[in-house]
Amino acid sequence: MEVLVLPTADDVDVRAADIVAEQVSRRPDTVLGVATGSSPLGAYRELARRQAHGLLDLTRLTCFALDEYVGLPAGHPSGYAAVLERELVRPIGLPPARMRVPDGSREDLEAACRDYEEAVGLAGGVDLQILGIGANGHIGFNEPGSSLSSRTRVKALSARTRADNARFFKAPDDVPTHCITQGLGTILDARRVLLVAQGERKAAAVAAAVEGPVSAMCPASVLQFHRAVTVVVDEAAAGQLALTDYYRFVAEAKHRLRQEER
Ligand code: F6R
Repeated sequence: MEVLVLPTADDVDVRAADIVAEQVSRRPDTVLGVATGSSPLGAYRELARRQAHGLLDLTRLTCFALDEYVGLPAGHPSGYAAVLERELVRPIGLPPARMRVPDGSREDLEAACRDYEEAVGLAGGVDLQILGIGANGHIGFNEPGSSLSSRTRVKALSARTRADNARFFKAPDDVPTHCITQGLGTILDARRVLLVAQGERKAAAVAAAVEGPVSAMCPASVLQFHRAVTVVVDEAAAGQLALTDYYRFVAEAKHRLRQEER
């Protein structure tokens, strides 16, 4: 696992955008896994800025969202389909059909989950998966206790997650109780994973994910089994990591090596 500790949240946005840009320059028709929530929004804005300045072409991406609430009416402004439309699809000029989001309004939710897994497979799998992390260690909406090999399915949201996400709704009771989320096994299938976290509120979860035991109590810790994970955090989110000096040493050594190669 590569851990990059950067001074500020803005630095996290720029570095995350750099990683997406590198991937897209290698493969313009990249399959990108996208998180919602607030953590990746700065990176999405930075990507949209680069697109607007002609520095990058993101219009050939295919995107798959990690998750969606169950039971919100189609087009609900807090639904992840609408959020991604506002924050990513329109700003980067992506053809809307190339943003796929689980269908949480379908009557047969199990079929919606199966179809979603199938669609990811048909697209060739996710090349780069962007993740945020919940304060309780969830990724996607895989709450503590989730099977470490789970696939896309319906999950009940924890009280903590519903409280954390109440800020996106008019009233706390408006936060849906259930969602469709890619499973931890689904996420592990991505070829590369980029996890971003900012702020002190995430520090305990980041430390548990990166340095704690692999445990369903911290679903993000399953990423320790993945061979290509980059964790990009600001100082505040890195606050409880034990090996920060080592991560800095590795990052500096890599940077020096890259400069010597030029
Ligand atoms: C959202 C998602 C969640 C969020 C997490 C952090 O698609 O999958 O795991 O990444 O809840 O949310 P924020 O970024 O709002 O702190």
